[in-house]
Amino acid sequence: MDLDLAPDLSAALAAATYTYDQVAELLGPDAHAALQRNETTPGLRRTADGSPLATLTRLFLLQTPVSLTAAEGALPGLVERSVAAGLVDVDGDQVRALLDLRPYADDLLDLWVASDLTPGMDGTPYRTRPDHVLGVSSASTSLAQLTIRDDVGSALDLGTGCGVQSLHLAEHADRVVGTDVNPRALALARFTCALNGVEADIRDGSLFEPVAGERFDLIVTNPPFVISPATGERLVYRDSGMPGDQVVERIVRAAPGHLTDGGWCQILANWAITDRPWDERLGSWVTGADAYAVQREVLDPAAYVEMWLKDSGAHPSTGGVPVSYRRRYDEWLGWLEAQGVQGIGFGWLNLHRTDASPRLSFTEWPYEVEQPIGAHVTGWHRDAEAAAAGADALWATRLHLAADVVQETQGAAGAEDPGTIVLRQQRGLRRAHQVDTVVAAVAGACDGDLPLGVIVDAVAQLTGAEPGPTRASCLGQLRELVADGFLRPT
Ligand SMILES: C[S@@+](CC[C@H](N)C(=O)[O-])C[C@H]1O[C@@H](n2cnc3c(N)ncnc32)[C@H](O)[C@@H]1O
Repeated sequence: MDLDLAPDLSAALAAATYTYDQVAELLGPDAHAALQRNETTPGLRRTADGSPLATLTRLFLLQTPVSLTAAEGALPGLVERSVAAGLVDVDGDQVRALLDLRPYADDLLDLWVASDLTPGMDGTPYRTRPDHVLGVSSASTSLAQLTIRDDVGSALDLGTGCGVQSLHLAEHADRVVGTDVNPRALALARFTCALNGVEADIRDGSLFEPVAGERFDLIVTNPPFVISPATGERLVYRDSGMPGDQVVERIVRAAPGHLTDGGWCQILANWAITDRPWDERLGSWVTGADAYAVQREVLDPAAYVEMWLKDSGAHPSTGGVPVSYRRRYDEWLGWLEAQGVQGIGFGWLNLHRTDASPRLSFTEWPYEVEQPIGAHVTGWHRDAEAAAAGADALWATRLHLAADVVQETQGAAGAEDPGTIVLRQQRGLRRAHQVDTVVAAVAGACDGDLPLGVIVDAVAQLTGAEPGPTRASCLGQLRELVADGFLRPT
């Protein structure tokens, strides 16, 4: 693509106020929500005034041809150059988009992202092309929200696609490298970066090949993680060409070798769940890094195969051929069964480079969490380190109850004591721990003044219990509260 077009184009988009907020306001909540369901009719009803903003919204988001006059009004002097760049096509008096050009934003900036057009608008049959370049997807957003946003010297966006992660990384990394194997993705990522005035070094090549011998402070990736036999047609945005979850294993094994000391690699991924526990299986891939993994969701194999066959347009409801849909479904499901795959996990893998023996923390947490969650990832690391202290060290530590923890009690009406006590975080993963009355009292008394052991002994005395056995009985629960960030060293 013509990168020289990018600055003039972004100036025109800005002049037309083609920003995320302005488009959302123009469409209104219902048409905006409809567009997210790939329905254009409500949006067309709201964009008929011929203004530059309405024209760009129709052209690039609603995938509806606009008149040449309207296009010239919205992109003054740029239509011909946009045709040459492959962005739009002119047919008589009609201009239609060949690529998706959408406003995007974060807390700080208005941005634009170029990608392929979303297939299957308004329920039209579609077949996704093998080198399709995905736009900003829910997975892109999840990874962006998981990313630790501390200032860093260097960052790698592995499998950059349309370049969306590079845009975010450029806001807090001095140097950004993006990689991809799809030439169309490389071109679109470069164009996206140029549109936003972002200098990212976008390189061609598989996984870590383009960065051989280089290390980064932060690596983020939303790799092509779909778990399949890898024998059929490969959609490069989702299929790695490797069977099963090998692509994720390869990234986990190789990433620590590309991280600076204390650097982080954050991966959004699927993994196979076999008769070996998922945490043990994934943990066996980790060397040279502490790992913090959260399994957010588990799908059964049939639901998984259906979801991805529908994604490619193979389902008969989107124009697929029923016989071949059923055959592919059966083959894929049969292969998963033969591999002993009982379910497919989805979640987050965070690797923190260390030369010490790796600390592994794996948790299943399908519940709603605070977003963005990135700021809490470094907290998990710090909390796990604190919880790993020996018993004597823990009893000597001054802890305070995190400010976001609340206590919930339940029990029979009129009962003197609660039946259950739950401590619940309001932030981060929003975890909850059921505790007994002693641990609740200890946690409530942790204000950083006294060592933990002294507080436990005092609570034991108040309840008429022996301090020694009380310490022994509550050590495990207290250690878990420290590991999960309910109690923090002062
Ligand atoms: C799911 S998309 C993610 C795109 C983008 N990073 C995002 O967050 O939206 C995966 C990307 O990985 C790329 N990819 C596929 N195989 C790859 C490989 N072996 N090495 C590097 N990138 C690859 C695909 O072309 C695609 O752009």
